[in-house]
Amino acid sequence: MSRVEVRPLETADLADCGALLAARHRRHRTAQPLLSPRFEEPDAAVAELTAAFGTADASGAVAFRAGVPVGFLLGAPKPSPVWGPNVWVEAAGQAVTDAEVMRDLYGVAAARWVDEGRSAHYVLVPAHDTELARAWYRLGFGQQHAHAIRPATGPVAPPAPRLTVRRATRADIPMLARLDVELPVHQGRSPVFSAGQVTTVEENLAEWANDIDDPAYATFVVEHDGEVVGSATGCALELSSSHAGLARPENAGFLGFAAVFPPARGLGAGRALGEAVIEWAADSGFDSVVTDWRVTNLLSSRAWPALGFTETFLRLHRLVGY
Ligand SMILES: CC(C)(COP(=O)(O)OP(=O)(O)OC[C@H]1O[C@@H](n2cnc3c(N)ncnc32)[C@H](O)[C@@H]1OP(=O)(O)O)[C@@H](O)C(=O)NCCC(=O)NCCS
Repeated sequence: MSRVEVRPLETADLADCGALLAARHRRHRTAQPLLSPRFEEPDAAVAELTAAFGTADASGAVAFRAGVPVGFLLGAPKPSPVWGPNVWVEAAGQAVTDAEVMRDLYGVAAARWVDEGRSAHYVLVPAHDTELARAWYRLGFGQQHAHAIRPATGPVAPPAPRLTVRRATRADIPMLARLDVELPVHQGRSPVFSAGQVTTVEENLAEWANDIDDPAYATFVVEHDGEVVGSATGCALELSSSHAGLARPENAGFLGFAAVFPPARGLGAGRALGEAVIEWAADSGFDSVVTDWRVTNLLSSRAWPALGFTETFLRLHRLVGY
């Protein structure tokens, strides 16, 4: 096989890269047909790439073998401080004809990122592409997060004994405000160690007082022997900024939040909540339901696959410098 030549990505490369991205997405949809068919079209893929390349401080690399484009990598920083001095390769940010080329691409792209002081790198990798994920592992990356999807179906079997699920009302606001704290508290602990901000119950009370009647969100509570022990929220996937472009299938619902108080975990309350959101999504006319989890969250990373969610994209992470 002839040598690969890699150079920084330029605007003139976007048409070739869009064709590579559309081909990647076609392969991805063979494994995960619930993803949008739209990006199998090179024009739609080029539009995604053009938008990504237009993001502030975007940069990347493109690879050729005997003059033929064989891969690209494109990243850009997110302004939020929770990600550190970062670069993100989003769902449209990479495609290769063979996985090993990604290591050459990263070698060129990351030189600039680190020169710019961006040492926290995040990449979204199509979950079915084991060879590509393994190439990233050989670049020092590990898995941080998973995006996943399942069909919207319902109704489901009744919850486990002593559990009931119902829509939340204004009277539930004090419990909802307490439950909102449970997720960031859990994820701040080992082995997640997430830097996500923990809001106070008081802040959550004020937010719920404004939002409880917002028709864009469907909030459920689960009761165990008549006591509220958990909550979950569903909405349209468009309301989530963390699922965009090729990771945002059309007409999808989103399981955006769920938490159960620690003493009630493992009794089926999480399943009952998740299934209520899935059924709500089906009743609302959505075709699929998307969710995501930190893979180091020992609870959600087991609960959501048990409810039928299968991975679409893996978020890999590398912190340079140690
Ligand atoms: C995630 C959470 C909502 C799940 O609720 P829960 O009441 O603990 O979950 P359930 O008891 O309903 O279990 C759900 C499924 O996960 C499975 N599961 C739970 N622990 C498991 C383990 N250690 N190994 C394998 N499967 C496990 C259960 O078996 C069940 O599947 P099943 O019904 O097919 O048996 C809850 O644990 C929680 O609040 N965690 C902290 C906050 C959080 O992580 N929220 C999710 C944000 S993405």
